Amino acid sequence: MSYDILVVGSGIAGMMAAIEAKELGSNVAIVMKKSPLANNSFMAKGGINAALNNMGDGDSIEQHIQDTLKGGMGIAEEEAVRIFCEHAPQVVRELHRKYKVPFTTLPDGRLAQRPFGGTKFKRTCFSADATGPAIMKTLNKVIQELNIPTIKNHFALNLIVNNGVIAGVSFLDEETNEVKVIKAKAVIMATGGYAGLYRGYTTNVTDATGDGIAMGLRAGLEGMDLEFIQFHPTGLAGTNYLISEAARAEGGRLINSDGNEFVDELNTRDFVTRAIVKQLQKGKQVYLDLTDIPEEVINTKLIHLKKRVKSLKKIDITKEPIPINPLAHYTMGGIKTDTYAFTDIEGLFYVGEAGNNGVNGANRLGGNSLSEGAVFGKIAGYEAVKYSHRVKNIPEIKNEDIQKDIELIEKLKNTKIDTKKIKHTLGDILYRKVGIIRNGYTLKKAIGIFEDLKKEMQTNNNEIENDSSLKEKLECINGIDLAIATAKSALQREESRGAHFRLDFPETDFAFQKHTFVKI
Ligand code: FUM
Repeated sequence: MSYDILVVGSGIAGMMAAIEAKELGSNVAIVMKKSPLANNSFMAKGGINAALNNMGDGDSIEQHIQDTLKGGMGIAEEEAVRIFCEHAPQVVRELHRKYKVPFTTLPDGRLAQRPFGGTKFKRTCFSADATGPAIMKTLNKVIQELNIPTIKNHFALNLIVNNGVIAGVSFLDEETNEVKVIKAKAVIMATGGYAGLYRGYTTNVTDATGDGIAMGLRAGLEGMDLEFIQFHPTGLAGTNYLISEAARAEGGRLINSDGNEFVDELNTRDFVTRAIVKQLQKGKQVYLDLTDIPEEVINTKLIHLKKRVKSLKKIDITKEPIPINPLAHYTMGGIKTDTYAFTDIEGLFYVGEAGNNGVNGANRLGGNSLSEGAVFGKIAGYEAVKYSHRVKNIPEIKNEDIQKDIELIEKLKNTKIDTKKIKHTLGDILYRKVGIIRNGYTLKKAIGIFEDLKKEMQTNNNEIENDSSLKEKLECINGIDLAIATAKSALQREESRGAHFRLDFPETDFAFQKHTFVKI
């Protein structure tokens, strides 16, 4: 199989990249780990940011730029932020007018907007409290209408690079359990982030295990700012259900078990999360109180939330406060790219949560992820097409390039591994030692435990009755590598900034107003 452009990953960045490439006349395919809607873009509920000023509060592109830079705590890249904020209005309008995403509108037909954290402006466009599903279902339809091949249930194994130039990607075809190579002139990796590794403490789909980032690291690329893990302040306590920031945007208040408010609900997520942790450390429970929001607003704008909390916890959100807990939600770090998603390998692009062009810095603002994915996905699609026009022949792929993958798969088939236990340990240690609050001691401890897990992965465990799938084993290999890289990045940053808080270095230090880089 061979394409001009191969997109790996079917979140908003991947879909927008593929649509752009196809509309520009390229031969493009999307390969995905599971199916088109099984990703975090689908899970993002609250909204998508663009400075449209539809609510007449004076919002502007410059204001969006300044808020995003401020949220990024001094290490967001201004060029990336400017490109993002300048393109977001056009891309969001395109989603609405051209592709027909069913956004919630004002009586005059323009997009309604709500206030999210880190700004005083109403900038977040939405489709009630199911924005991700509305966008992703629509884009999936567009993909089908454009006849873009979607190759499902393929686990990406490795990037195939010849003399610094991309030649294709190897995959495990999960239906046949065989290694397959797909050649391409240009590859766009839109494989998502790694907050799903915080198993048991995450809002993410279980598939968000950072496989594409681990592949990039194995190919010699640099991971940038991997230590910045965003914890969303409001997970429904005892579950992995995300209570969208939309609930606070519509007037929800955070209170502790004494009934006292303790934080500005619409401050940035890192700030609100740490304020919640302080309450929990004092032995208080924390609640999101929506009981003052008019029932009509709940029933039109927070209806999915109302139903879900009822079914999961038997709580009527119009009458009772909801117990909450911060959960790992998003990873700001990723494979280092330039502003336009180019990596250090020719013809290889990383975008969305998988890549890092510095747009989010140390802390992403709520609502920026869907628009950032859409904007830079489209840009990556455009740049990949331009690049592919210059490529006469795809570089040669030698047998030895795939032999190591075949050998790994054969070895894994013959090694019984308790991946459930490994994933739980990984999640637990990440949460406890590489979580909201870290220190040098816990980070070093975590690295030691991850190294032990790596060894455990090599050992055949005959006591296991039901062996895990190859996919589960491969996710563990990637997850452990990435967990080590994340903890090493966090150790490098001897300060606190944005989503990275170190008890042993609690102040922000100008000497660290720069990115961290890690290789494996
Ligand atoms: O709270 C939310 O709806 C999440 C949005 C986001 O992460 O951008």
